[in-house]
Amino acid sequence: MSEMTDLKAQLLAEIAAATSLEALDAVRVAALGKQGSVSALLKSLGGMSPDERQVQGPLINGLREAVTNAIADRKAALEGAALNARLASEKLDMTLPAPAFPAGSVHPVSQVMDELAEIFADLGFAVATGPEVEDDWHNFTALNIPESHPARAMHDTFYFPDEVDGKKMLLRTHTSPVQIRTMMSQKPPFRIIAPGRVYRSDSDATHTPMFHQIEGLVIDRGIHMGHLKWTLETFLKAFFERDDVVLRMRPSYFPFTEPSAEVDVGFTRDKSGRRVIGGSEGWMEVLGSGMVHPKVIEACGLDPNEWQGFAFGTGVDRLAMLKYGMDDLRAFFDGDLRWLKHYGFAALDVPTLSGGVGA
Ligand code: PHE
Repeated sequence: MSEMTDLKAQLLAEIAAATSLEALDAVRVAALGKQGSVSALLKSLGGMSPDERQVQGPLINGLREAVTNAIADRKAALEGAALNARLASEKLDMTLPAPAFPAGSVHPVSQVMDELAEIFADLGFAVATGPEVEDDWHNFTALNIPESHPARAMHDTFYFPDEVDGKKMLLRTHTSPVQIRTMMSQKPPFRIIAPGRVYRSDSDATHTPMFHQIEGLVIDRGIHMGHLKWTLETFLKAFFERDDVVLRMRPSYFPFTEPSAEVDVGFTRDKSGRRVIGGSEGWMEVLGSGMVHPKVIEACGLDPNEWQGFAFGTGVDRLAMLKYGMDDLRAFFDGDLRWLKHYGFAALDVPTLSGGVGA
């Protein structure tokens, strides 16, 4: 009896003295574990006479209960103290700015394409697309460039070795086949721009085998060169964000337009001798254009006596170089992160024209 009272006092003292959850658990194992002191007493009940057991049973079970409860209480107290200590040591300042995380930048070509789409959207143009792997008919023949035409040689075309369904396949050399695809798949009138990748076997500081063009096409009734000139002037002023952009249209030749005009934009030089768009000290060629040739309209199944239009095509990379001042086209496609960081645009930047043409 007194042995049990001693054990109880000893265990309760050990529980109270435990200052960590590990120490408390060691006390629990020593008392209630398989080899524990309280467990040994519980086991001894089996060897007792029924009378003895009737007396000892409640006492031993009472001891077990008292120890179990004391451990649970101490455990709760220790856990509470641990939580308080953590709350005191870990502070979170919700007013601190969030740490910056690395973000990519928008490539100047993508930026310029977005700007162009926005400007032309204001003028009522939709964006059209076509395949980069094109057939010879859409890239050349339908554009009034038959098999033996010298213009084919001028395009430095990448041909595929095998024909598909009897068609000679190639990487499109310009975005003009999208004119054909639009005229054949949509009902006029329409106004579209077609930005995209084009390919020519050519490489130096201003030429890469892959580059970007944007095509424009308007087909309607009664369209004339005045519409073309106004559209180009409005677009170039909006794109370069200057009212003093001067255009010069020079007679030229493209098989798919008649008449055709090459368009130059005037520049002046700043103090450091750099060319700045605006004024007319010198001229730079920026695009090709003209009235869509009646043969092209006919090839697409439309009646050229009812439908007329204009088309233009220009290099997106070249426009980006002129507007943002890069001088080597090859760097556009090197993927050098330093270049991209310098010339790229923040992903959340809206195109520089907040409201497009009207703004
Ligand atoms: N496709 C021509 C080129 O790549 C440009 C152009 C397009 C000219 C539309 C006139 C009309 O050079």
